[in-house]
Amino acid sequence: MSDPAPEPGFVSLVSAGPGDPELLTLKAARRLAEAEVVLFDDLASGPVLDHAGPQAELIAVGKRAGRPSARQEVVNQLIVQHAQAGRRVVRLKSGDAGIFGRLEEELIALAEAGIPFEIVPGVTSASAAAAAFGMPLTRRLTARRVQFVTGADITGQLPQDINWAALADPTVTTVVFMGQRSFPKLAEGLAMHGLPGTTPALLAEAVGHPGQRLIASTVAELAQMLQAQGPASQPGLILYGPLALPKQAG
Ligand SMILES: C[S@@+](CC[C@H](N)C(=O)[O-])C[C@H]1O[C@@H](n2cnc3c(N)ncnc32)[C@H](O)[C@@H]1O
Repeated sequence: MSDPAPEPGFVSLVSAGPGDPELLTLKAARRLAEAEVVLFDDLASGPVLDHAGPQAELIAVGKRAGRPSARQEVVNQLIVQHAQAGRRVVRLKSGDAGIFGRLEEELIALAEAGIPFEIVPGVTSASAAAAAFGMPLTRRLTARRVQFVTGADITGQLPQDINWAALADPTVTTVVFMGQRSFPKLAEGLAMHGLPGTTPALLAEAVGHPGQRLIASTVAELAQMLQAQGPASQPGLILYGPLALPKQAG
């Protein structure tokens, strides 16, 4: 079943997946092909943009080469302005657009401006990271819950109001987004709240991109490694819990 192309003045909030263009959904690829304007984040760039048609104006609105990202209000305004000018707009967001992507602010701006929109869901980097390690995120008896958490609040630090009981639960697979910098501190708190330092932990950086790096370790050792390494140069996820089986990863 495929629906007709969006009317002019319509905004598609499209999930780009983790980077590998083959992990775009068919709908995402079609919306890109039909778009007149594509506003994309840095993490939603690269080969996925090859699916945009020759008519599309491509506008980067993410962090690039150390420059700060465009302020969210500016991005909201751009989306609204292009739609009000009668264009078919794709707002391309990394992974699944609804996970840690500030989607809500864009939805509010569209609703306030009375602009019709749709959300095209996609593959989050969390699923792609588990797949890259060759493991599931859940297991029937020992990992019956998955939690996606952010390791950075709006100041870039570990959030203050962490639910430690939830994060130190040894029966859960936890996926930490934006957490490489704060993981040493998180690991300290987890230990204080009873999670053994020997709990398996995985680092998945730049999944689906040329610099992909996968490291299998434990919570305590990964924290030490990240502390010693200093600022990360690539986006990454940390997965820990009963399923994150330590093994050699390439
Ligand atoms: C603003 S959040 C967006 C998450 C995205 N919506 C998703 O579902 O994957 C950006 C963070 O997602 C994670 N991330 C996104 N793409 C990634 C990738 N290809 N490899 C590893 N981590 C990724 C990193 O933690 C990064 O700092």
